[in-house]
Amino acid sequence: QRRIFSGVKPTGHLTLGNYLGAVRRWVQEDQHRADALFCVVDLHALTVEHDPARVRRLTRQAATLLLASGLDPERCTLFVQSHVDEHARLSYLMECTATDGEMRRMIQYKEKAPREQARGGSVRLSLLTYPALMAADILAYGTHEVPVGDDQVQHVELARDLAQRFNQRYGPVFTVPRATRPQVSARVMDLQDPTSKMGKSHAETAGIVYLLDEPDVVRKKIMRAVTDSGTEVRYDRTEQPGVTNLLEVLASCTDGKPETLAGEFTSYGALKQATAEAVLELLRPIRARHAELCADPSYVDGVLRAGAERARGLARPRVDEAYAAIGLLPPA
Ligand code: TYM
Repeated sequence: QRRIFSGVKPTGHLTLGNYLGAVRRWVQEDQHRADALFCVVDLHALTVEHDPARVRRLTRQAATLLLASGLDPERCTLFVQSHVDEHARLSYLMECTATDGEMRRMIQYKEKAPREQARGGSVRLSLLTYPALMAADILAYGTHEVPVGDDQVQHVELARDLAQRFNQRYGPVFTVPRATRPQVSARVMDLQDPTSKMGKSHAETAGIVYLLDEPDVVRKKIMRAVTDSGTEVRYDRTEQPGVTNLLEVLASCTDGKPETLAGEFTSYGALKQATAEAVLELLRPIRARHAELCADPSYVDGVLRAGAERARGLARPRVDEAYAAIGLLPPA
C-alpha cells in the first residue's frame, strides 16, 4: 500500500493557494488511491512570532476546513501534529542527520528570517530547524509521496536526502519520499502582487483569497486583481504575470487548460468576471459544509482523536527503530 503524507500550517486562514496547490488533490485524488495522512502542523506554527490562542483557534479551523473541503475520515487519516509525540521525537534525529549549511540554504528560511528579524528583533532557532521537523513528519510514516505546492518542494527534497543519508549510515529504516505537484496552480500568486506567492501569513490581505471570505469579498478581490499593461489576454508568465495567474486559477477551478482559456477572452474584465464566478462556485459548498461542521465541534474532535491514535500506531515502531539504529539504548 502506497503511503501519502502532507500537511498545512496553522499560521493564518487557509487560502485559495493552499486549496488549489495542495488540498484539492488530497480530496479528489490522494485519499482515494493510497493510505493518506493529512496533518495540521501546529508545532510548525511556533517557528514565528505567534499568539497562543490564535494558533489554537487556527488549528481547529484548519482541521474543520479540511473536512469541509472533502477529506473523508473513512478514507484518510486527519490529525494534529502535536497530538503525536513521534514527530518531535524523530525531529531530533533529523537534526543529528542534517547539517546547518543545508538548513541555511532553504529558500523559506532565507525569506522568513529577515522578516522575523525586522518584526521582533530575533529569529527563533526552530525557524532554522523547521525542515528537520518536516522531514520527521514525512519519514515517520514510511511516506512514498508528498503532495505539495511548489514552495514546499525544496523541503521535501531535503527530507529525501536525509532519509538516504540516515539509511546509508545506520541501515534501511526510512522510505525515500518524493514530492508531487499539481499540473496547474502549483504556485498561485498574490492578486495584488502577481510576482509573489499568495501566502496565508502575509500582512497585506487585498491580494489573498481566503476560503472563508464572504462571497462579495472574494468577488471584489478578484475584480481588483492587478493585471498587466496592454489589452491582450496571453498566457505568459514573464510578460503577463497578473493575467497568467488569473488564467491558472480559472483553469484549475474548471479543469481547463490556461493556454486554451487565454484564447477565449478578449478583455481583462471578462477574464476576471469568469474567474470570480469559478472561484465562488468552488468555495460555495466548502463554506456551507464548514458552517455545518462548526455547529458540531464534537464530531471534529472525534475525527482528530481517532486520527492521532492511528498516526501514533503507525509512527511509533519506525521511530523506535530509528532510535535503536542510531545508537540509542532501547529502554529495558
Ligand atoms: P503551508 O501551510 O504553507 O501550505 C500548505 C500547502 O499549500 C501549498 N501552498 C500553495 N500552493 C500553491 N500556491 C500557493 N500560493 C500556495 N501556498 C501554499 C503548500 O505548498 C503546501 O503544500 N511546511 C509546510 C507544512 C508541512 C508539510 C509537512 C507539508 C509541515 N510538514 C510535511 C508536507 C509534508 C507548509 O508550511 O505548508
